[in-house]
Amino acid sequence: MTHSQPTCIFDVVIVGGGHAGAQAAVALRQEKFAGTIAIIAAEPELPYERPPLSKEYLSGDKNFERLLIRPAAFWAERAVDFLLGERVVTVDAEAKTVATEKGRIVGYGELIWATGGEPRRLTCDGHDLRGVHAIRTRADVDRLLAELPTAERIVVVGGGYIGLEAAAALIKFGKAVTLVETLDRVLARVAGEALSRFFEQEHQTRGVRLLLSSGVTCIEGDGAVTGVRLADGTLLPADIVIVGIGIVPAVEPLAAAGAATGNGVLVDAQCRTTLPHVFAIGDCAAHANAFAGGATIRLESVQNANDQAVVAARTIVGRPASYDAVPWFWSNQYDLKLQTVGVSSGFDTAVVRGDPGTRSFSIVYLRDGRVIAVDAVNAVKDYVQGRALVANGAFIDPADLADATRPLKELA
Ligand code: NAI
Repeated sequence: MTHSQPTCIFDVVIVGGGHAGAQAAVALRQEKFAGTIAIIAAEPELPYERPPLSKEYLSGDKNFERLLIRPAAFWAERAVDFLLGERVVTVDAEAKTVATEKGRIVGYGELIWATGGEPRRLTCDGHDLRGVHAIRTRADVDRLLAELPTAERIVVVGGGYIGLEAAAALIKFGKAVTLVETLDRVLARVAGEALSRFFEQEHQTRGVRLLLSSGVTCIEGDGAVTGVRLADGTLLPADIVIVGIGIVPAVEPLAAAGAATGNGVLVDAQCRTTLPHVFAIGDCAAHANAFAGGATIRLESVQNANDQAVVAARTIVGRPASYDAVPWFWSNQYDLKLQTVGVSSGFDTAVVRGDPGTRSFSIVYLRDGRVIAVDAVNAVKDYVQGRALVANGAFIDPADLADATRPLKELA
C-alpha cells in the first residue's frame, strides 16, 4: 500500500488517545525522549479516564473535566501534539506513514498502536434503534444521559463489568433495570462462580431484575426502542437499552498492513508487532502472559495499558524492558470494591476466605497447587497481600487459605 507524501512527520506517532496512548507519550518524555510526538485520536477530547464512564460519570458524581488524564497545559509543556477527531484507517509500514479517514497522511519514525477496541454490537434486528447505547466513550455516555430523564425502563444486555456497573449506577436513579446475560452467571469471563453468585445476589437485593441464560432475539421499536425480545418469546419493555457484550480489538489497519494478528495484534515482550517500527499496547495487544500460564491473551485493563506503554517507550529510547507486570483490575458496584490480582482462567481450585454474607471476603484461585489469582471484595488486605502470592506463584495448602483469620502474608 502506498500513500502519497505525508503532510507532517513525527518521530513517534501514537494512534489512540486512551489510557495506553496517553501513557506512552508521558513515558517517552519521562524517559527523556527529545523527538517529536503526536497522538492521533478518533475522539475529539484530550485523553480521559474511561473507568468512571460506567461509574461516577454515569451517576453524575464526576464531571468530565475531572476525568482528564492530564490538563491541556501538561501536554503543551511536554510538546505532545494532538490530531483529535481523526481516525487512522490505513498504515503503510514501508513508507512509514498512516492515513486518516479525512485523508491526512502522517509520517512516523516509530508507530505505537494504542487503539483499544470498539464495543461489540448486537447484530439482531433493531440493534441500531434510537435508545440503544454502548458505554465506551464520553460521547456514548452523554447520549445516554440525554435520554435518561424521560426513560423509566432500562434493559442492560451483558453481565460483564460494563453491564453490572451501569445497572448499579442506574438503579440509584430509581429506574426499573433488567439485566440480560446469555451465560448462566454474570462475570463468567473474569471470575469464578462464587463471585458471580455474590454479585448476582447484591444486584437482585438492590432491585435489578436478572435474567440469566437468556438470549436477545431482537430489539423492537419504530425509530426508537420500545422493547427487547428474548429467545423464549418474552418481551421486555424498554426506553433505553445498554449493550455491554465485550469489545472487538481495533486492529484492522494493522492487519491490512501485514501485522500478525489473532485475537488482537500480536506483540512480543517489548510490545513490538511483527511490522518494523510498529508497537502495539493496551486492550488491542495480544501477548504471551506468564500470569496466564504463558498463553497469548489480551488484557483489558488500565494497568496493562499503562505498563505496556512504559515498555514500548523504554524500547524506543533504547532501554528495553520486558512486559511482566502482575495483572490487576477493579470494579466498583454500590458500596462494593472488587479488586482482582492475577488471571483466574484455568484455575482448578477456588478457596473462599471469609463469609460473603458479611460483604467482605476474598476468593483465592489455584492451578496445580499454585496461587494464580485473588478476587477481593471489600478486602483490601487480601488484595494487597495476595499480590505477592500471585507474583511468586506460591504453593499454599487450600486449607490454610480458607482460614480467614490467618493473613495471606503469613502463608507465603
Ligand atoms: P465483558 O467481556 O467483560 O462482558 C460481556 C458480557 O456480555 C459477558 O458476560 C458475556 O457473556 C455477555 N454477553 C455476550 N454476548 C451477549 C448477548 N448477545 N446477550 C447477552 N449477554 C451477552 O465486556 P463488557 O462488560 O462489555 O466490558 C467491555 C470492556 O470494558 C472490557 O474490556 C472490560 O474489561 C472493560 N471494563 C472494565 C471495567 C473494570 O475493569 N472495572 C469496567 C467497565 C468496563
